[in-house]
Amino acid sequence: MDKKTYFITGGAGFIGSHLSELLLKNGHRVLALDNFSTGSEKNIEGLIDNENYHFVRASLDDDIVVDRMASESDIIIHLAAAVGVMLIVERPVHTIRTNIMGTEKILDAALRYNSRVLLASTSEVYGKGVSIPFAEEDDVLLGASSKNRWAYAATKMVDEFLGLAYHQEYGLEVVPFRLFNTVGARQTGQYGMVVPRFVQQAMNNEDITVFGTGDQSRCFCDVRDIIRALYDLSLHADSPGQVFNIGSQNEISITGLAEKVIEITGSSSGIKYIPYDEAYAPGFEDMERRVPDLSRINKLIGWESEYSIDDILNSVHDSLK
Ligand SMILES: NC(=O)c1ccc[n+]([C@@H]2O[C@H](COP(=O)([O-])OP(=O)(O)OC[C@H]3O[C@@H](n4cnc5c(N)ncnc54)[C@H](O)[C@@H]3O)[C@@H](O)[C@H]2O)c1
Repeated sequence: MDKKTYFITGGAGFIGSHLSELLLKNGHRVLALDNFSTGSEKNIEGLIDNENYHFVRASLDDDIVVDRMASESDIIIHLAAAVGVMLIVERPVHTIRTNIMGTEKILDAALRYNSRVLLASTSEVYGKGVSIPFAEEDDVLLGASSKNRWAYAATKMVDEFLGLAYHQEYGLEVVPFRLFNTVGARQTGQYGMVVPRFVQQAMNNEDITVFGTGDQSRCFCDVRDIIRALYDLSLHADSPGQVFNIGSQNEISITGLAEKVIEITGSSSGIKYIPYDEAYAPGFEDMERRVPDLSRINKLIGWESEYSIDDILNSVHDSLK
């Protein structure tokens, strides 16, 4: 296997730090950039001494740093973004700027040095669509622009359009991927991510706060499965030019998740329901179900998720102990 140089934006984040570990383990060189807005030094403390790992604390706004890191890379994995629905509701301008301008900057840098780019998008782009499962070529149904919750999905969709346009017009190798709920050690509950928040509440024996009715369901995928998919896509000759869903198909309701968290942590917590209006903002909209169609990725690289919801919750619990 050829040794490659990967440039990971958002490298000190949840997914970026796990991905960096896998790349180093597989003998590659990793250049990581992060401004520690939602990521942290702690996430990368096990990597910093590796001679194949180079970390730069900087923002995507720093043109010189981005250019230098891109100039040395074979493959860029663009994960840096304003992430999570809570952050988006609180700081819409910041979200839109970071997610659109940051991606444009990365694509331009990749074009200068002809690096392959993997772009992180999200299952949020399926919006309020009701087809189950969601396939990459399905129509999407976003809410009104007066509801800034949809800004996250809209920015990521612009990123996908931009990436595919660079591929079509300039021949750049771009692979946008739509992550469904990804969970594991090091994810922070600070910005509303449901699994670490529930596990932390259970460990404190506080009521687990479920937003909405709790009947809405999601499919949670272990970050260890996700990074395996990203790695294989990053090296496959035929991945550029199309969008890939990545996620698990094991569906669980949010009330079911809260019950499982209580069972696994042996907690005495109860469950408390909070209306969306109170948890987020008046008029907040959510989708009932979100299940990925995985035929495309499965056909190309033979990938499917392996970790169960119990495995995931046990690993989050262990990491928070
Ligand atoms: N975790 C999920 O369930 C999920 C689902 C769908 C999509 N995604 C996407 O995957 C990517 C990684 O998400 P994550 O879950 O690891 O979240 P994360 O918040 O841990 O990672 C994002 C990282 O980017 C960094 N960052 C943000 N803005 C930056 C900037 N301007 N300059 C430099 N660094 C910056 C943050 O400090 C953080 O370390 C994101 O693009 C996100 O939208 C994640």
